[in-house]
Amino acid sequence: MPSSPSPRTTISEATRHAAALAPMTLDDLDAVMAIEQTAYSHPWSRGNFRDSLNPLFNAQCLWLQGELLGYFLTMRGFEEMHLLNITVAPAHQGQGWGHMMLDALTLMSRQTGAQWLWLEVRQSNQRALQVYVRYGFKQVSIRKDYYPAGRQQREHAVVMSLKL
Ligand SMILES: CC(C)(COP(=O)(O)OP(=O)(O)OC[C@H]1O[C@@H](n2cnc3c(N)ncnc32)[C@H](O)[C@@H]1OP(=O)(O)O)[C@@H](O)C(=O)NCCC(=O)NCCS
Repeated sequence: MPSSPSPRTTISEATRHAAALAPMTLDDLDAVMAIEQTAYSHPWSRGNFRDSLNPLFNAQCLWLQGELLGYFLTMRGFEEMHLLNITVAPAHQGQGWGHMMLDALTLMSRQTGAQWLWLEVRQSNQRALQVYVRYGFKQVSIRKDYYPAGRQQREHAVVMSLKL
């Protein structure tokens, strides 16, 4: 089961500035998988990440003093970017790191000429939905039975987009 997010705490400007993004590498996958497996009921596999470490994707890790705080992974389309995974370590959620990664990935996406950022999110993932809506994403459609949900069940995906 995913861990509960920690209560909101404020991180200082100095801490924010000390954090840095770096492209995800094979050497990062132990740390990435440790977060992935605690953050999701249906985590990506190591192979999913390994297959994404190529020029078709942009995979970035957010580090603070040697600790992995989170990561995101996007795939480029024609004038659009698809956000495939964005995750903050449960112990660091609710402190602004997700927002910071969204800022970074919208900037990177604009630099490639993308006009739109797309994502899918589980309908039950109210917390992520709230984060995306607050960030400016709009719901576009529902993709029925898109995700596995245990016990042979499926769950709808909410498709969202952000004009860049
Ligand atoms: C979704 C996720 C990436 C967001 O990252 P985060 O670091 O927790 O989010 P932030 O702290 O940057 O918050 C972003 C916004 O949500 C709000 N928010 C965050 N945590 C909150 C909380 N506990 N209570 C109320 N509001 C909260 C913030 O106010 C902020 O809005 P603002 O910029 O208008 O102030 C992160 O929670 C996560 O990894 N969740 C598990 C994996 C997941 O579901 N990923 C998305 C799959 S589609």
